Amino acid sequence: MTHTHVAGSIHADATARAPGWLSRPGDVNALLPRLWSAGVDKDEHGVLRVAGISVTELADQVGTPAYVVDEADLRARARAFADAFTGWHVYYAAKSFLCTAVARWVAEEGLGIDVCTGGELAVVQRAGVDLGQVGLHGNNKSVEELRLGLTAGVGRIIVDSFAEIARLGSLAEELGVRPRVLVRATTGVEAHTHEYIATAHEDQKFGFSIAGGSAAEALLACHAHPWLELAGIHSHIGSQIFDAEAFEVAARRTLRLHAEFVAETGVVPDELDLGGGFGIAYTSADSPATPAELARALREIIDHECAALDLAVPQLSIEPGRAISGPSALALYRVGTVKPVELDGGASRLYVAVDGGMSDNIRTALYAAEYSATLASRRSSAPPALARVVGKHCEGGDILVRDEFLPADIAPGDLIAVPASGAYSRSMASNYNHVPRPPVVSVREGQISTLIRRETIDDILALDVG
Ligand SMILES: Cc1ncc(COP(=O)(O)O)c(C=O)c1O
Repeated sequence: MTHTHVAGSIHADATARAPGWLSRPGDVNALLPRLWSAGVDKDEHGVLRVAGISVTELADQVGTPAYVVDEADLRARARAFADAFTGWHVYYAAKSFLCTAVARWVAEEGLGIDVCTGGELAVVQRAGVDLGQVGLHGNNKSVEELRLGLTAGVGRIIVDSFAEIARLGSLAEELGVRPRVLVRATTGVEAHTHEYIATAHEDQKFGFSIAGGSAAEALLACHAHPWLELAGIHSHIGSQIFDAEAFEVAARRTLRLHAEFVAETGVVPDELDLGGGFGIAYTSADSPATPAELARALREIIDHECAALDLAVPQLSIEPGRAISGPSALALYRVGTVKPVELDGGASRLYVAVDGGMSDNIRTALYAAEYSATLASRRSSAPPALARVVGKHCEGGDILVRDEFLPADIAPGDLIAVPASGAYSRSMASNYNHVPRPPVVSVREGQISTLIRRETIDDILALDVG
């Protein structure tokens, strides 16, 4: 579990100001391997490398800030899900990070793709992946997005409201197609994650409530519609979840709904999708399960519940996003200023300001997400100092890494790397303060490729047509 406690002002020394999960490192230069992609290490001078390329070379070639993807690592994570979940359908959740190259990589590793807007669908279309392996999500898809999904021939559409069922049904009739639909069910599970990324409790915008009866009604409505092919039930309980029990409760409730539908109609829906949300390590406090462990746990849960309900096991699917794209990329920043700030009781904290911030990673500001960081451009022999990595935006909450020990001699010009920056960073980036969005580059066997180029001020000015 990630802990978001920030120690209060009663503590006198800087170490005590650190949250309970963060301990003072013996060697402030050392990397904790589970936070980084497999291709990351440091050379004898303490310079971080990704798949053999040093971050100093990356910074020279592509500038900072930049997101750096370890291609082999991302592919391996995608493949690990495909291998561990054999017989299941595994859809990569594109919202976590999407560009045409990544769409192709995950498809080459045997995964389908989930998109949730017309924009994401346009990217996977351009990538040339098989659209039959693409699912279309969204709680408020426009008519244009539904039409695009139908004409592109996406393999499934996950419906989220009665208005959408009617809209989709009419469009399908107009276009003479019969899409496969899954009904997004709200299971009422209180996943232990931040409120904004928990999506299966009742009081939120997604899905049809199982407890309130609308999920059963939606299944019947899709089944009865001549232009819709009911494929099954979908459940996504939230993100950054470490707790198999939450999936167990969700599986039990969705399978009970499935069984009730079978009893009422005599029709057996093909598919059950358990969504994504598998947690990753952002800090030393996080110990995620491997895909193989997850597969074993989910299989056991489903087998047990299906046996109890006397049901054949449906075609199962999952939608991991962050667990594939998150750990495979780091964010690289250059330090601009370092400011020691006195705290109560004589303690101090180093505010390390870098050349990016909340416009390239909103997660810390949005959900109090925790991150880690390391000095990436040299080895330091200075003692560890409690630091906060902040950005360049005009916002006090512009924090990238709330609590980390960095070398006390960290200085302007140093490079800092933030691991686990591949998911929901570039994909949620903004132009706040008219800051251009950083590029995404990949590294593979010593080769750097640009996946998304750096935005320029001209790109931003081009939109201003007034
Ligand atoms: C429906 C659905 N599926 C899958 C995901 C992917 O979640 P994660 O990236 O945490 O695996 C999300 C994330 O919001 C989602 O809403």
